Amino acid sequence: MIPTLNPKELFSKYRPEIIEAFEKVIDSGVYLMGEELEGFEKEFADFLEIKNVVGVGSGTDALTLSLRAIGVKSDEDVIIPANAYPTAFGVAASGAHPRFCDVEEDNLAISVKTIESVLTTKTRAIVVVHLYGMPVLMDEIINLARRLNIYVIEDCAQAVGAKIGNRYVGTFGDIACFSFYPTKNLSTMGDGGAVVTNDIKIAERVRRLRMYGEDVRYHSLEPSTHSRLEEIQAAILRVKLQNLNDELKQRQVMGLKYRASLKPDNLIPESLPKNLTHGYHLFVVRSENRDRLKQKLEAEGIMSLIHYPQPLNFQPAFQRIGNVTYTTRHFPVSEKASEQILSLPFYPGLTVESQDKILETVKLWI
Ligand SMILES: Cc1ncc(COP(=O)(O)O)c(C=O)c1O
Repeated sequence: MIPTLNPKELFSKYRPEIIEAFEKVIDSGVYLMGEELEGFEKEFADFLEIKNVVGVGSGTDALTLSLRAIGVKSDEDVIIPANAYPTAFGVAASGAHPRFCDVEEDNLAISVKTIESVLTTKTRAIVVVHLYGMPVLMDEIINLARRLNIYVIEDCAQAVGAKIGNRYVGTFGDIACFSFYPTKNLSTMGDGGAVVTNDIKIAERVRRLRMYGEDVRYHSLEPSTHSRLEEIQAAILRVKLQNLNDELKQRQVMGLKYRASLKPDNLIPESLPKNLTHGYHLFVVRSENRDRLKQKLEAEGIMSLIHYPQPLNFQPAFQRIGNVTYTTRHFPVSEKASEQILSLPFYPGLTVESQDKILETVKLWI
């Protein structure tokens, strides 16, 4: 059987280094908020070329704490694309209203046009999601946000390593959020996330919010939860970070091979703009015969997934948000895409033979 994602493969090849990291943490006697976290935050900041990285408990918490750090209020809107299922939960947990908008047909990402269709005077922030690892062009969205005096947050959970020109995504908006969920490009053996920003005030507030709102231990300035990237996870991330460029290269090779072998109208986007480096977290194809394709792959022992089966406006959890009712609101591009998208097996370690076998079946049934 060929899995779609393969977390075991992402860790077992670093077994000796990970065991060494575990032993170091055991012997340190410090399991939260210690040297591994500090080390990882510095090394990830160097990698991204950004001033501040704050490790937190998950990508979801990264979104929630970022929004709390900019002081979002409970009657304010945060715009997110209707096809970014996980993003909505981090936004909703901040107390603000997630406000869905449709995406563009070609890259399934939000644009100035789709954002403008849902802007209100209550809009406080836009979350740009670099879905599947595909970078979304930021300039026009940032210009719009500057004009309106609202924040831009990049959701980079799926996009470690993606670039626009020479810069990594996550360095364009006011804040960016990362997830280190086990299957991500940079991943750990459990939950983990980070908030990154060049704004020291925002970084300091997120640092407080991840630890009871404290400025110093046992002195809290504001009520908050705790959300800490554990020492053990930070230690694993440091091992993985050292090998990240190599893994990103493998993802590039596999992604380009899929792209070169399939027809443009099955690809997202149809063609890759030259100045963008895809982060290749997932490899998602589009087909009008998606369900049949999925079945045929499965019959060959090839597993596939759908990211995501339904847009957010169809989720029972989000039928009514503030004064917006989603049962009557439709996002045609996101809705159609959810019936056509399929994530093919994709992870560093997928063999050339397996990829050839997948392509053979895909080409027959797509
Ligand atoms: C686009 C996106 N945003 C947010 C998240 C949430 O991250 P986490 O699972 O670490 O909470 C994920 C992870 O699935 C994601 O893919």
